[in-house]
Amino acid sequence: MKLYLADMLAAQERRKHISFHTPGHKKRGADITELSYSDNLSAPTGVIGQAQADIAHILGADASFLLTDGSTSGVYAMLMALRDAGVRKLAVPVCSHVSVLRGSSLMGLELIPVAQEFSGGIARQPTVEAVRHAMETADALILTSPDYYGFFPDLGAIAELMQAQNKPLVIDGAHGSHLHGTALHASNYASMWVDGVHKSLPAMTQGAVVSAKGIWTDLLAESVPCFRTTSPSYPILASIEYAVKYPRNERIERAAEGVKRALGALENPDWSKIVIPFGKKSGDARRFLESRGVYPEFDDGNYLMFYLSPATRRRELKKLVQLVKRLPRGEVASGARMRGRTGKTTVALLPQEAVGRVCAQTCGLFPPCMPVLLPGDVVSGDAARRLSGAVSAFGLSDGKIIVFED
Ligand SMILES: Cc1ncc(COP(=O)(O)O)c(C=O)c1O
Repeated sequence: MKLYLADMLAAQERRKHISFHTPGHKKRGADITELSYSDNLSAPTGVIGQAQADIAHILGADASFLLTDGSTSGVYAMLMALRDAGVRKLAVPVCSHVSVLRGSSLMGLELIPVAQEFSGGIARQPTVEAVRHAMETADALILTSPDYYGFFPDLGAIAELMQAQNKPLVIDGAHGSHLHGTALHASNYASMWVDGVHKSLPAMTQGAVVSAKGIWTDLLAESVPCFRTTSPSYPILASIEYAVKYPRNERIERAAEGVKRALGALENPDWSKIVIPFGKKSGDARRFLESRGVYPEFDDGNYLMFYLSPATRRRELKKLVQLVKRLPRGEVASGARMRGRTGKTTVALLPQEAVGRVCAQTCGLFPPCMPVLLPGDVVSGDAARRLSGAVSAFGLSDGKIIVFED
């Protein structure tokens, strides 16, 4: 398949070219700017437009928009489109990514929480019943599909419910772009969705696409530029086109399923996410693997998550199996939430001192960028351990959890 952007970049390197334009490094190479021959992301009529049209077709959209600012900018653009269409109350699963929470706050949307159960230390996808309950009040729904652990909501039943109510379903597909062309891809269910191409397809970091169908196309076209740079990176743009057109790698998909079985990974329906339970031993396991040059996507204090893409090599999977088989496992705590009484004033306490107190500010780990504690949750020993052992955390103040004073 033709690669419009990569071909244009290769051709421009052969051109005679004296740069009296940005970028200031004045070097030849792929890092060019918007010139007469390289098109313009804000008003695409050339190679960017051709690449976008192909990408929309592959992703099953009426229109797709390339993003060089990650899925975050696509989530913001979708939320703005919802607001501009009159949505005021948005149903949001309580453990959604921070971009959904921040974007909703930016757009002045009232959040209607969709309950999520915790099991095996993970916030599980909301049930259809939990969605139905939230939709008694909300005008629209955003779901994450798949989530960072490779689980999906019941998309068919939820899409039907939303259609029956004539309300939009939007999908944060930051982890789902490798599924295009399959029944699990967001395009089969959502009015608007984002594909985090840089996470599960071979694109450069920050490469993503936001897409829409039907009446949402014009609204999204209006909102996208508000969250997108006017100086896009051509290496990222070209890598998005390359990644979306990258062929499916069924050998790796099958090999991944074998690895999951061999290592006792979580039984999730997404081949690209191998999630291995280590419980309290996850930190030791991560350090052991990293000292041998094997880096997981994250260590959430219970699980190590290994992210695959069609570009993963079979010999890398073999190495993973050899090393992980040698590692001891600990028990994963359930992560069940206990709710407590909130107060008016707050205090910051070290995680171990905060055990038994009621959390006043959402906090969690980066990645998976999902809350470990929500306001009103009683701080458990397990949550304290995971937050204090985190490589990076959000919502803490100098490593302390904000809790209500008694
Ligand atoms: C569920 C989810 N949504 C959105 C994002 C934001 O994606 P990006 O980092 O590409 O902006 C992430 C990032 O980890 C994510 O996990």
